[in-house]
Amino acid sequence: MKGVVFTEFMEMVEDHFSLRMVDEIIEEAAVPSGGAYTAVGTYPHEEMVALVTALSRRSGMPLPDLLYAFGRHLFGRFARLYPRFVEGQTDTLRFLAGIEDIIHAEVLKLYPDAQLPRFDVEHQDEHRLVLVYRSPRHMPELALGLIEGCIDHFGQSVTVRSNPVDNGDQRSVRFELLRHA
Ligand code: HEM
Repeated sequence: MKGVVFTEFMEMVEDHFSLRMVDEIIEEAAVPSGGAYTAVGTYPHEEMVALVTALSRRSGMPLPDLLYAFGRHLFGRFARLYPRFVEGQTDTLRFLAGIEDIIHAEVLKLYPDAQLPRFDVEHQDEHRLVLVYRSPRHMPELALGLIEGCIDHFGQSVTVRSNPVDNGDQRSVRFELLRHA
């Protein structure tokens, strides 16, 4: 997983909890990297899972809630760190419909070793977008947080529903977004 995700996570923990909490979760998670993340580095995805799990234990907040809150925070950070992805964009549904072929495709050019999820567009019209999320890392709560963060960013009235999709051994989640005029 890209270092930028780790550095943003650590900053969020520091801001919302404390620097002490950062040290405590690094110690509790016993991550091989020792917690010295740089934005340009790449670290095992398991380290993120270990850190979020440690934060959940220490803070008493459920793991899914933490992943969701992190995703919601992360979108705002991504919009600042990579302004060219959001510049000139005004429509939440149109932006999110391009997550696979435009946004993450560009991310892959920046970081050829990025491990990105898949977002297939199952339906798209002016008021409704259906996205299907699939990832070997399976972090639908993070995805929902990023979607909600994106909705916050564009400030339109959009609601999201998420439902697990039963398709055998590959877990996926369907996100249905509705825009209210
Ligand atoms: C400006 C917008 C965005 C940028 C620059 C961006 C960039 C990235 C980067 C750098 C990663 C880490 C890849 C790795 O660790 O190897 C990532 C992961 C991820 N992104 Fe995005 N992203 C953006 C918007 C979104 C949005 C709106 C969603 C949700 C629809 C999303 C869903 C995800 C998810 C769920 C992951 C975690 C990896 C996984 O599930 O396999 N991203 N993204």
